[in-house]
Amino acid sequence: MNINEQRILHSWATNAKPWTRVVRDQLIESRALVTDKAIVEAVVELEPRTFLDIGCGEGWLCRELFCRGFDGWGVDGITELIESARCLGDIRFVVSSYSDLPLQKFGSINQFDCFICNFSLLGECALGEIAQAGKSLLADKGKIIIQTLHPLIACDDSAYSDGWRETSWQGIGLESFDPTPWYFRTIESWIREFHLKNYRLLKLIEPCHPKSKKPVSILFIFERLS
Ligand SMILES: C[S@@+](CC[C@H](N)C(=O)[O-])C[C@H]1O[C@@H](n2cnc3c(N)ncnc32)[C@H](O)[C@@H]1O
Repeated sequence: MNINEQRILHSWATNAKPWTRVVRDQLIESRALVTDKAIVEAVVELEPRTFLDIGCGEGWLCRELFCRGFDGWGVDGITELIESARCLGDIRFVVSSYSDLPLQKFGSINQFDCFICNFSLLGECALGEIAQAGKSLLADKGKIIIQTLHPLIACDDSAYSDGWRETSWQGIGLESFDPTPWYFRTIESWIREFHLKNYRLLKLIEPCHPKSKKPVSILFIFERLS
């Protein structure tokens, strides 16, 4: 794990409490207006029997999907986030880094119909680790659903090319956050890297903000080839 990948986990450990409050109080406008609905709809449309929410944070998406009758698990590298997820009553949450996913046990589920990564593939290695985990943990023709910031919007004034960036956290509500690095990818890079790892793109979705009409995020749905 390189220094930036370590910093990502360190920052999320520091940010666990304020992040939990911000998500549970719905303080991020783009989530409340656009992206929460976009990821739920994408999963529901696929109708997976089982899902693994990778980088689940405090667990809101798992709870939303459990309520709709989908069976699955949430996993995150930060113990405090998994504890706050479990505190709300469901035990289907596990602490794990992405690289250790193939070593974990998920109750009676050996393979999942889909992986979900909602704003959680942050480091340079994350894509490869998830693709690798899919070899053992995804069923044949299993899907990976990824939602991330739309690269055209997240790119800002920087060059449109892959590379490490610093998060410019503006305080949300009354919360302040430890800055964390993240690895920017172009749309071409997301698709190319998954193709190289034996996944094919099934669908691409670009949800827009209702007022600005600009894309807020992008969703990729990949299928594992056998
Ligand atoms: C922006 S939060 C998103 C949380 C959640 N998916 C949501 O929609 O609210 C990113 C999450 O990814 C987790 N994460 C990032 N890189 C990770 C890694 N290499 N291993 C385990 N968890 C990681 C962080 O701990 C954090 O909870």
